[in-house]
Amino acid sequence: MLVAPSILSADFGHLAADVEAICNGGCDLVHVDVMDGHFVPNLTIGPVVVEAVAKAATKPLDIHLMVENNSFFVDLFAPLKPEFISFHIEEEKHPHRLVQKIRSLGIRPAIVLNPHTPPEALEFFLEDIDMVLLMSVNPGFGGQKFIPSVIEKAKRLKQLILQKNPKCLIEVDGGVNGENVKLLEEAGVDIVVAGSYVYGHPKGIAEAIATLK
Ligand code: DX5
Ligand code: ZN
Repeated sequence: MLVAPSILSADFGHLAADVEAICNGGCDLVHVDVMDGHFVPNLTIGPVVVEAVAKAATKPLDIHLMVENNSFFVDLFAPLKPEFISFHIEEEKHPHRLVQKIRSLGIRPAIVLNPHTPPEALEFFLEDIDMVLLMSVNPGFGGQKFIPSVIEKAKRLKQLILQKNPKCLIEVDGGVNGENVKLLEEAGVDIVVAGSYVYGHPKGIAEAIATLK
């Protein structure tokens, strides 16, 4: 299992140190939650802060947009050269066009599905994306409870992926911990995002990442 800790649960007063800690602790990607106060009822960080994250990180960035006006935010973050930019299909009139734009900027495109959105929404353009991010909480906040129906969704998505684009990765985000990660692994999930579990683990960040792996 690949692990992408969410810096939403970091101490923003010591952000560089907390980014270094997950990179030194063996993470695979640094998950960055961008919220605009419109698509979700919370507001986080923009390119100035994410630039500081990128400087401190020795692992690639995985930028999760939870915003209106996705295309505008893609332009804001593209210069930071993240590995992935993911956007919510629920908030995009032209997801296929935006996928092409992200790809043309040299960034791997990913699409996020909220808990209610079926995997079949992606059926006719799965071959164009590199990753699907399944939300296992409603987006907006760290520390929420895992929604178990994502397991069934991941299994159905895995079947679609095997038919249409076997290289496409499945990532799950929200309420992931050392227990439910086993079910996610069995369902075919490749990457887990974890914020409060990683930053709040009593034995420390490296131990939390090792347990998820
Ligand atoms: C929620 C964010 C998540 C969140 C995960 O909207 O997308 O990345 O930070 O935090 P935990 O792991 O605490 O649920
Ligand atoms: Zn996220």
